[in-house]
Amino acid sequence: MGTATIEIRGVTKAYRLGDIRVDALKGVDLSIGAGEFVAVMGPSGSGKSTFMNILGCLDRPTAGSYRLDGEEIGTLSRDGRAVIRRNKIGFVFQGFNLLPRLSAQENVELPMIYDNTPGTARHEKARAALASVGLADREHHLPSQLSGGQQQRVAIARAIVNTPSLLLADEPTGNLDSATSDEIMEIFQRLNDELGITLVLVTHEPDIALFARRVIRFRDGLLVEDHPVAERRKPPAAEGVSA
Ligand SMILES: Nc1ncnc2c1ncn2[C@@H]1O[C@H](COP(=O)(O)OP(=O)(O)O)[C@@H](O)[C@H]1O
Ligand SMILES: [Mg+2]
Repeated sequence: MGTATIEIRGVTKAYRLGDIRVDALKGVDLSIGAGEFVAVMGPSGSGKSTFMNILGCLDRPTAGSYRLDGEEIGTLSRDGRAVIRRNKIGFVFQGFNLLPRLSAQENVELPMIYDNTPGTARHEKARAALASVGLADREHHLPSQLSGGQQQRVAIARAIVNTPSLLLADEPTGNLDSATSDEIMEIFQRLNDELGITLVLVTHEPDIALFARRVIRFRDGLLVEDHPVAERRKPPAAEGVSA
């Protein structure tokens, strides 16, 4: 599993709604190094999701440059961006986005079906990914038979099964209670610490942002704050142990 570097220069994004132009990003400069864990904050409508869609190659800037591992993404075609997404990027969403009629294991296998991984390898990798998020005994459960936290863990397993170098999460704990949110954040922390995967995560909650190593803040389409996390939250097992 590699680890991604991000270079963003002068990125703007304008949406058009009929005659009205919405400037969602107004010129963003940002570098994220390999293996960083960044929390993205800011009020509703400040451009966070727009920024994440560009990072995730789901959308492209109106102007400016986005380099992922040195490769310019802004000028890639739709198909070119799809290839980058498949090879490099995992996504986790607030609403889990699992397919309701598929088991946990089948949901995790989906990205490998799209890239034609043979059946046996697919089953093994899906089981390993589920085990790595603590769900080894829930492979055959449907999403409706799992708690919200368990469903989000299935979604994380699905996001990492193809060993992405960049993991993006847009308010992944937005639908979860605080204890469950902490459990999910510990999984993200572990993926970042142990696998070195570059992680960018949107949250509204200051407590959640403290699991990251760096916090950036958007306001009105501009990056207005960027600082390291001084006292990072750690899983309970590591609490009290000084770094
Ligand atoms: N597809 C779209 N079409 C038109 N306007 C959009 C679209 N997506 C977002 N916007 C507008 O862009 C601005 C930033 O939105 P967004 O990136 O979703 O903010 P956030 O995620 O911080 O809440 C908002 O004014 C929003 O209404
Ligand atoms: Mg949003």
